[in-house]
Amino acid sequence: MKTKSFFKAIGIVAFGLFALANTGCNSKEGCTDPLSTNYDADADSDDGSCVYPIEQADGILGGKLFDKFWATETGWTAPTGIVAADISGYSDFYRCKACHGWDLDGNVGAYINRGATASRPSVSGSIRSFISSSTDQALFDAIKNTGGAAVDPARTANGTDASLGGNAHPDYGTILTDDQIWALAKFLKTEAIDVTTLYDVTVTGTYPTGTATFSNIGKDGDAAAGNATYTSKCVGCHGADGTTIALEGKSVGQFTRSKANEAQHKIKFGQLGSTMGAMGVSSAEMKDLYKALSDETAFPDL
Ligand code: HEC
Ligand code: HEC
Repeated sequence: MKTKSFFKAIGIVAFGLFALANTGCNSKEGCTDPLSTNYDADADSDDGSCVYPIEQADGILGGKLFDKFWATETGWTAPTGIVAADISGYSDFYRCKACHGWDLDGNVGAYINRGATASRPSVSGSIRSFISSSTDQALFDAIKNTGGAAVDPARTANGTDASLGGNAHPDYGTILTDDQIWALAKFLKTEAIDVTTLYDVTVTGTYPTGTATFSNIGKDGDAAAGNATYTSKCVGCHGADGTTIALEGKSVGQFTRSKANEAQHKIKFGQLGSTMGAMGVSSAEMKDLYKALSDETAFPDL
């Protein structure tokens, strides 16, 4: 009996604290910007400063979600009403990267030749300028796209039949949590590497029959610094010359030179489903790494 009322008392105190904390949250510690609603979880004093959801979002998680949000590494689970197989069975109709490209340049970047097939949609236009010009909230809203294309196997049955609607940006409000969408926004705003700092790309022709050719891999990066990063972070798995693991039949150097658009994402955010997690490589380190990997003698083809 004694124990029971003790716990009851604890419960009341805990509820009181919760209510107090909640009041503090609603008053937002003096922040008057409605966009910070419910997200002022910091313990600072009432200084009027606002805390925004994007500041608390995990942009590295966002990079993984951009690749394949239902991969084990993300912790995604299908919300009520969504059948996971209706997404995973129609993979490219839901993977952000399939419609927007690893370089975010869509059908005017490296995916200029990636036409629609029965199992994949056509590629959208570049979203890069939208990302840099939009507010965080507008970016969040664009990703969430409430009222957009529904999860529906009939819609995603054939990418070459545009009338089915499979090329449209899905209603992610029914698929992802707000926290996951903020993580994606954070990835797009701050963690995605600006590929123009890593290599040059020459694009000719038009979608879906154009070609994109990479050159000047690593640009003005420092090969010695890149080699040091490779030695400390990659050599244990990929070997001194990058040929230990075949990556779609390619060495690390070869993969990076031929898929310069994609390698940077995999290196920074990890290869989902493999032992290679996010490698903690900054944009500057990536440029140096690219410079080192551009050397076909040190990092030969398989
Ligand atoms: C089936 C293809 C498809 C998928 C999958 C997809 N999108 Fe889109 N998305 C589009 C299309 C089409 C547009 C309209 C862009 C345009 O104007 O060409 C768009 C628009 C956007 C925009 C706004 C850009 C603008 O210029 O208005 C953002 C940001 C965006 N998508 C991010 C994402 C993210 C993040 C994901 C994954 C969670 C994703 N998209 C998944 C097709 C897709
Ligand atoms: C713990 C071991 C490990 C480490 C450390 C590691 N990798 Fe990997 N890496 C792998 C494995 C395993 C794969 C996936 C092979 C597969 O998909 O068959 C992979 C895949 C890749 C890919 C290709 C991704 C794709 O789309 O197929 C690249 C590029 C790559 N690694 C580069 C690097 C670089 C650069 C580093 C260091 C910054 C690094 N890796 C560190 C194990 C590792």
